[in-house]
Amino acid sequence: EEPIRVGLMGLGTVGSGVVRLIEDHQNDLCHQTGQGVSIEKILVRDRQKERKVAVDPSLLTERPEEILKNDRIDLIVEVMGGIEPTRSYLREALENGKHVVTANKDLMALHGAELLSVAARKGCDVFYEASVAGGIPILRALAEGFSSDRITKMVGIVNGTTNYILTEMARKGTPFQSALARAQELGYAESDPTSDVEGMDAARKMAILATLGFHMDLSLDEVTVRGISGVTPEDLRFAAQLGYVLKLVGIAARNGEKVEVVVEPALLPQAHPLAAVDGVYNAVCVYGEAVGETMFYGPGAGAMPTATAVVSDLVTVVKNMRLGGNGRAIVAPYREKRVKGADE
Ligand code: NAP
Ligand code: HSE
Repeated sequence: EEPIRVGLMGLGTVGSGVVRLIEDHQNDLCHQTGQGVSIEKILVRDRQKERKVAVDPSLLTERPEEILKNDRIDLIVEVMGGIEPTRSYLREALENGKHVVTANKDLMALHGAELLSVAARKGCDVFYEASVAGGIPILRALAEGFSSDRITKMVGIVNGTTNYILTEMARKGTPFQSALARAQELGYAESDPTSDVEGMDAARKMAILATLGFHMDLSLDEVTVRGISGVTPEDLRFAAQLGYVLKLVGIAARNGEKVEVVVEPALLPQAHPLAAVDGVYNAVCVYGEAVGETMFYGPGAGAMPTATAVVSDLVTVVKNMRLGGNGRAIVAPYREKRVKGADE
């Protein structure tokens, strides 16, 4: 059978991981989907740039229309980041009937409702597991695993860069800027790391979690955010002497019909389960009325963990496509209930 043809947008940290994973796990992907996965075109800014992964140079393009208007491509994997032109590209892809997998939390937090609504109108899937907590399948858990329960609260460490920086500062006394530079080298940080350091990246992820977990209307302006740029190794040393660990924590809580979302540095007692989450690791505690407390843990950033989330979404889309019009989607796209920004 013909392989599924994918248009990849972006070949940086995550895009390189996606290419590698598709190559390395081709047999398993074939086995699971009943067909192979082939990358048809890859959109980049600069075709001449040296790449972290070997690709056939003829696959690279700087022209988005070679993907968006390409009839051979059924599925777009967007790992280029940013709001524009990405939002317009994805809208056009959906309007052209192409399914979308994205790792872009900035876009999904701000314009997720709009994209999901275009997708619903066109009968397309949009999956965005990689947008929150890298390799932890937390969106699947919220959308499926908790569908019978009522989530009351989510508390998490959802930014790998800041958790890496705080861990390096606490363990080795590494100065803030050196720890940040290392996080950038390791591919954890955003292209503008201000959004990591000032808490905006975590705020966008908490907004996605809250919208999905609480099935409620939430706008990013409602999230209170404080970052870690003012934290020093001395602060962390004093905290440790008093029995605490300082972490950048996101809290999303539901009180009746009201939702409160906060991201801020918090002093956690050393015995708290989140206090032991170190380095690039993330964790999310989800509290359900029926289930009680649960905790999800895993790598929160980096090429390969993030690629697993992207490629798992891709597999789900392919399985859904194979079920076709008469079948039932095995996993429904993670629908957001909010209406702000929707185009319906
Ligand atoms: P990156 O290393 O900066 O890679 C971005 C890629 O997109 C590059 O290949 C770049 O092309 C291409 N690109 C960017 N803007 C473009 C444009 N306007 N037109 C054409 N190509 C464009 O970024 P990344 O770390 O892989 O992150 C990608 C996305 O995944 C972001 O949304 C990020 O938030 C998300 N994410 C990242 C991680 C992580 O650990 N890094 C984890 C989860 C989610 P050139 O190479 O030619 O410059
Ligand atoms: N910059 C992000 C982080 C990437 O450090 O968590 C993963 O979303």
